[in-house]
Amino acid sequence: MHIYTNKDIFAAMSQEQKTIKRRMVTSALPYANGPIHIGHLAGAYLPADIYVRYLRSMGEDVAFICGTDEHGTAINIKAVEEGVSPQKIVDKYYEMIRDAFTAFNISFDHFSRTSRPIHHQTAQEFFLKFHNEGSLIQRETQQMYDEEQKMFLADRFVIGTCPNCGHEEAYGHQCENCGKDLSPEELIDPRSKISGSVPVTKETTHWFLPLNEYQEFLEEFILEDHQEWKINVYGQCRSWLQDGLQPRSITRDLDWGVKVPLPEGEGKVLYVWFDAPIGYISATKEWAKTNGKDWKLYWQDEETALYHFIGKDNIVFHCIIFPAILKGHGDYILPTNVPANEFLNLEGRKISTSKNWAIWMHEFAAEYPDHIDALRYVLTGIMPETKDSEFTWADFKARNDNELVATFANFINRVKVLTLKHFKGVPARNTLNETERTLVNDLYANVNAAGYNISNFRFREALNDMMKIARLGDKYLSDTEPWKLIKTDIAAAGHVLNIGLNIAAVLGVVAEPFMPSTSAKIFDMLQITPLSWKDLKELDFVFEGHSLKNIPHLFQKIDPKMIEHEIEKLNSDGPGEPASSEVEKVVVEPSKPETSFDDFQSMDIRVGTILEAEPMKKTDKLLKLLVDTGIDRRTIVSGVAKHYTPEELLRKQVLVLVNLKPRKIRGVESRGMILFAEDLDGKLYLVNPENSIQNGASVN
Ligand code: 2FM
Ligand code: ZN
Repeated sequence: MHIYTNKDIFAAMSQEQKTIKRRMVTSALPYANGPIHIGHLAGAYLPADIYVRYLRSMGEDVAFICGTDEHGTAINIKAVEEGVSPQKIVDKYYEMIRDAFTAFNISFDHFSRTSRPIHHQTAQEFFLKFHNEGSLIQRETQQMYDEEQKMFLADRFVIGTCPNCGHEEAYGHQCENCGKDLSPEELIDPRSKISGSVPVTKETTHWFLPLNEYQEFLEEFILEDHQEWKINVYGQCRSWLQDGLQPRSITRDLDWGVKVPLPEGEGKVLYVWFDAPIGYISATKEWAKTNGKDWKLYWQDEETALYHFIGKDNIVFHCIIFPAILKGHGDYILPTNVPANEFLNLEGRKISTSKNWAIWMHEFAAEYPDHIDALRYVLTGIMPETKDSEFTWADFKARNDNELVATFANFINRVKVLTLKHFKGVPARNTLNETERTLVNDLYANVNAAGYNISNFRFREALNDMMKIARLGDKYLSDTEPWKLIKTDIAAAGHVLNIGLNIAAVLGVVAEPFMPSTSAKIFDMLQITPLSWKDLKELDFVFEGHSLKNIPHLFQKIDPKMIEHEIEKLNSDGPGEPASSEVEKVVVEPSKPETSFDDFQSMDIRVGTILEAEPMKKTDKLLKLLVDTGIDRRTIVSGVAKHYTPEELLRKQVLVLVNLKPRKIRGVESRGMILFAEDLDGKLYLVNPENSIQNGASVN
């Protein structure tokens, strides 16, 4: 194994060629329009919390800032849905979200909200600085207007028929059925989502940030100077930059949000994605005021490193738009890193708020307060760091039972029980023998590897390093068998337990970023003030005669009934959407013999669209489909009736093997085969192109 030294760790933490005196860490401000779920937690909050806990433990100066994002149309939509004011909505969810974070021990230094006056003032100052310096473009635009409600309609408030697939409930910005990006004018029979009336087009003025003027700066800042950013982040930025940046409107015709601070801005607010990231700054101002700090040092001093923890859907806003705003303002530093995560799926499906296919943090905290650290542990172990990953309840139980209970808690419990039973406090220790010296070196190799990996945003790897420490401790006990030694050589048994207790102290430190309550329990058992990462050296933390406290077992096995109950709860609202194809799965070995490229090339696979679908008589397995393959229209009999209704398949794009030998199935000639993916439970899923493309496109 590679041994990392403190020098490596600091080198990694200072990837930039600048001296870092302090760190500003932010997590995406969640919209206050609903509760948050484990996907949010694993995406933006848990990784940031692990990172800052480690930094603090290393004695670094760090501010960890978050709060609720209380503006934007998402809040309006929720308010309309629930028939209450937007204020009522944000008040309710601000509290719910804040309390869920507290329950999960997310250690923000400050948790604010964008509805506070300090934020409105800060966001308006930004806008005015740009406006007064002539750095914004003012443009007349055409927008849909609801004459009944007397309001302009945000794109997502206009619904109508999709010109691409005929879906009748498509939104003005996107069709949820075929995924096509739309603008409201493209919709057939548009209507207002608020009143149902037919909207009219009206002229309105908006202010635009000329992002195109920042193109060159951003290319240098990201593509050249930040090649160390995570590949998923860097890749997304490169593709935005390759497409070329365009001016972006930063105001909206709405009455909920930060008012445009100009007389001609009456009835308009700042676009939520303009004001939300500025929320990090206003929240820092609040924190600084009550903590005797200078907020400017955290945002404007070159010796501060800035980190944004977010999910992949927020990359463009944090890597392109916000840096352009910070640069345009002129007084601010730019992010050192934006370690965005991909998405977490749940039981094979995308987490979906509307379909209630989610594990809500507030519900989990209320029902299972004793399993909070176990969930933090499991979510870290499966964190979607480089690609989408998946949470399943079975895996949660397995990791809890086999890793936390069987190794971690077992090790701590064995040293505790044997010491309390046979000694008065911590037993005496002799000089370490050669094997034990090697053990100490191995322990510290893992301590340093964990630190190195956390500094580089590799939290899964760091968690493994922590578990290796627990395993080394557990193995040392199994190898030395102090329970036997007690009967033959009590001093030798005491020596082993002294080492075991000191390893527990090391484990308490390394576990703290991941499982803070568990770490606190270990130090409670050891009856010492919690140690820090920077205190770690040798094995001299508890000494002969020091008394210990008896604490309950650190982890409990998960009751299978809990798993059954949770799965039932998920299914009670019906299945969510299938997860995307990139989900990380259990590793499955190739199940077919090697094939050649030529063999693969002999298959003519095309993109097609299902035009008609009907059940076949006397079977509940088959559907008769009429498919436009781009070459022709043909009938294909497919064995998917148990997985899809005919309606669900209509107008769907699919992949078709078109040169398969025709075959008669129940009297119908089937010409070709539609490709489906089959999950481990035998469920079939359609395979289709990422975006809708022309029929007949070939797959190779
Ligand atoms: O995607 C979201 O939930 C946004 N509310 C994130 C905002 S992050 C920041 F810019 F405030
Ligand atoms: Zn569509």
